Amino acid sequence: MSVLRTKTIEQSIREGDEPEYQLKKRLTALDLTVFGVGVVIGAGIFTVAGRAANQLAGPSVVISFIIAAVVCGLAALCYAEFASTVPVSGSAYTFSYASLGELVAWIIGWDLLLEMLLGASVVAQGWSAYFQIFLGNLGIEIPSGIAPGSGFDLPALLLVLVLTALVSMGIKESMRVNLALVALKVFIVLFVIFAGIGYINGSNYSPFVPPSGPPVDVTPAEMPLLQALFGLEQTTFGVMGIFAAASLVFFAYIGFDVVATTAEEVKNPQRDLPIGIIATLVICTILYAATAIVLTGMVPYDQIEPSGALAAAFDSVGKSGYATLISAGAVAGLTTVVMTLMIGASRVIFAMSRDWLLPSGLGKVNPRTGTPLRITIGIGVLVALTAAFTPIGKLEYMVNIGTLAAFTLVAIAVPVLRRRRPDIERPFKVPFSPVLPIVSALASFYLMLTLPVETWIRFLIWMAIGFVLYFAYGYRRSRLAGQPREGELPSMTST
Ligand code: ALA
Repeated sequence: MSVLRTKTIEQSIREGDEPEYQLKKRLTALDLTVFGVGVVIGAGIFTVAGRAANQLAGPSVVISFIIAAVVCGLAALCYAEFASTVPVSGSAYTFSYASLGELVAWIIGWDLLLEMLLGASVVAQGWSAYFQIFLGNLGIEIPSGIAPGSGFDLPALLLVLVLTALVSMGIKESMRVNLALVALKVFIVLFVIFAGIGYINGSNYSPFVPPSGPPVDVTPAEMPLLQALFGLEQTTFGVMGIFAAASLVFFAYIGFDVVATTAEEVKNPQRDLPIGIIATLVICTILYAATAIVLTGMVPYDQIEPSGALAAAFDSVGKSGYATLISAGAVAGLTTVVMTLMIGASRVIFAMSRDWLLPSGLGKVNPRTGTPLRITIGIGVLVALTAAFTPIGKLEYMVNIGTLAAFTLVAIAVPVLRRRRPDIERPFKVPFSPVLPIVSALASFYLMLTLPVETWIRFLIWMAIGFVLYFAYGYRRSRLAGQPREGELPSMTST
């Protein structure tokens, strides 16, 4: 037995055809793009962008958005090659199982769970905060014992439970709800851009890159790892501020990789997955850059509201009606992010349980809904409790580090799989391999190094738990270990 054992691509595809684990194939490229935009546009642009402009980069935050987009774009090309070659549920987890072996696959799957479970919880809390602002505008107060930030966030809990019910009813049904909400969200972002253009004051763009400030007083644990390692002092703004803001606004792009987790539910995955992933990223980059330009043009950067910046910008120019509309849009927008992250997490656990790295009974597809019901409900309860009871605060950095770790490994896996399996058909290929995948891995790793020391410590603890689980359970129980599942033969094909 070896932790480097790989599962062949043919084997992955064949197992996806076993009736008890089969998902319905009904999604198109357009569905995927809607799904992608639904999960990507969220708290990142509605809140984090304002904070990054105000505290780290000023008007040059637009460059930070472009740097983050380039890192994501490189990773997206690698994801697109894999998703078109291995069109099986589970995204990066499945790709690496076919190339780098079981242990790396488990690590990536574990990272993706960090990204999606914690991401859904963080965004559910953000949703709840916006919901409170929105109700407040209508004159309704949430009782303080059950309000966001009170220790028991009831709106976040209820949101997650309602979304869990929707997702359980079947992916196409939830896609329909998603479509309406995504349309509204894109409308709101376009509204901010076009309504805001008239209020731009050119003098707000100067200085475009604010001069770097004096060292900031932070604890060693809050310093970026890179600065802590080299004993540098942390400053804000200036050129370094642009990069620091890039690793923060990276959060705004999180989710395009989740498109790849739905591979098995796509009608024509070889063609549609690369289109869905890349279209999502292009649309979001354009909208983000335009929003950042408008926001920093409307309000001097040092007066940008660090939370709820978009609504506050319109308040500051006397358009409070617009501000209410925007907070309503944020409520709708964040809903789809939470839902899609939960769907992605369920598909990763589904793929892991089908490989018996997690208990195989978890992944059974309910014959009526065509979805893995047990997993969906389990995730719903987990995310609801985390969102309701955890004071999450700065944990978006945890989401970023989990995602960047997965991006790094996926990029390395592209040239490895090309070497190991030159024969398989690759409908989409990353240009200039291995140079481009290596640049992609280095870029993702660089952004990881700019994250705070405390984020690294939490991340290493999460990884340690993953290792213990793998060696205590998955390593021995894995389908590839050849142990029969209770009452079954260790067959790779169904009868
Ligand atoms: N990209 C997602 C957001 O901005 C996670 O909320």
